[in-house]
Amino acid sequence: MPLNRARGPRYEVQGGAALHGTVRVSGGKNAALAMMCAALLTTEDVVLTNVPAISDVDSLADLLVTLGVTIDRHPDGAMRLNASRVSTCEAPTELISENRASFQVMGPLLARHGFASSAPPGGDVIGQRPIDVHLAGFEAMGARVSREGERWLAEAPAGPGSLRGARVFMDYPSVSGTQNVMMAAVLARGASTIVNAATEPEVQELGHLLEAMGARVTGIGTQCVDVEGVPTLHGATARVMPDRIEAGTFAIAAAMTGGDVLVEDAPVHVMDAVVAKLRAAGALVEQRGEGCLHIAHDGPLRPVSFQALPYPGLATDLHAPMAALLTQAAGVSIIHERVFDNRMLYVGELRKMGAEIVSTGSSAIVSGPTSLHGARVRALDVRAGAAVMLAALVAQGTTVVDEAYHLDRGYERLDEKLRGLGVRLERA
Ligand code: EPU
Repeated sequence: MPLNRARGPRYEVQGGAALHGTVRVSGGKNAALAMMCAALLTTEDVVLTNVPAISDVDSLADLLVTLGVTIDRHPDGAMRLNASRVSTCEAPTELISENRASFQVMGPLLARHGFASSAPPGGDVIGQRPIDVHLAGFEAMGARVSREGERWLAEAPAGPGSLRGARVFMDYPSVSGTQNVMMAAVLARGASTIVNAATEPEVQELGHLLEAMGARVTGIGTQCVDVEGVPTLHGATARVMPDRIEAGTFAIAAAMTGGDVLVEDAPVHVMDAVVAKLRAAGALVEQRGEGCLHIAHDGPLRPVSFQALPYPGLATDLHAPMAALLTQAAGVSIIHERVFDNRMLYVGELRKMGAEIVSTGSSAIVSGPTSLHGARVRALDVRAGAAVMLAALVAQGTTVVDEAYHLDRGYERLDEKLRGLGVRLERA
């Protein structure tokens, strides 16, 4: 990790203000990352709008450029990608280690060019994060998968365009695994069926982009996705869906500070789980027109227990922010993490701020309400970082959040957006 990142930016947050006002959600991180990789499948332009200005997008863009993709970005969030001149199918290790989505260049490179090589992907240290599901899918389509030192190599049986459609069973409904295998299958010869596919909205968004590029995909959003391979794909334009995790994070922040916030451009139709839990905790949550969520809360919060699950269950990416909220609820809440095996990094940081929270393996028990106090804490991953930022909003005094670069990976202009809602904070 570069030295400047290790020191990194930090936030200094003054606690105590209830959030008030309107905040606009940015384009979805995980949808945008997969959609950017899809540009590798065609020689024509793929134009994405509403791409968030976050560092995970920057690092994936760097990787794609290294592979030979031309990228034009505009400050309004539009991004034009052209992969007509891919110069290498070997993803440089130092760029692959920057984020998890980088491994999703493998499926499209393998399908179109017949070869792909990459180190295992980086990303948050939130669990073991294997890639067996991705590799098994490539193998089922006839690819030879091997290991050379640290790197994975995948070769199609007879060069470019020679993957064969197959029935692929996913041991686990992996989000990026489903996306990677879908991108391999769209240019394979014949039909593929992905059984036990992930149904997350970000997988659906990729499926719709692939359809717009000429792919034949059915069952998008179900656990059984059918793909009829086609020889080539063409360019397309698509708007990246708004980020459901960012929207959820602001909704949680509004509820836990006793605020009154309108979250604009929220993908409300895919936020049932978080809306249900916020209501169960006592918050008033209402949909206002298309894509607007109004959150208000006044009075004590109630404890709620939940499991973090694959979609449409409560997203694992909202586990830590919800835990921060539950420190303010009157009673005991129990959380079970069912997706990743190391999503508890935030627990120790919240405890530094006075939270009564204990973790036992993949579960956490939160007792509240606790009067949190400012402390020096770390953003240990994107969502653990969000949890300490939310805790800082209700803490007495100043909280210093170190390693804020983790927040930059997933939250666009977080400081500006929080300031717009009345929070006093500095970025140092
Ligand atoms: N898994 C396997 N084998 C595999 C792949 C995954 O067993 O080959 C297991 C993992 O060990 C884990 C579970 O499957 O226990 C879920 O992993 P998944 O592959 O679904 O997650 P991912 O694709 O690596 C994406 C998001 C995550 C989000 C998860 C779950 C991207 C770039 N990342 O990760 O986002 O938490 O899906 O929804 O799309 C975040 O935004 O902060 C973040 C971590």
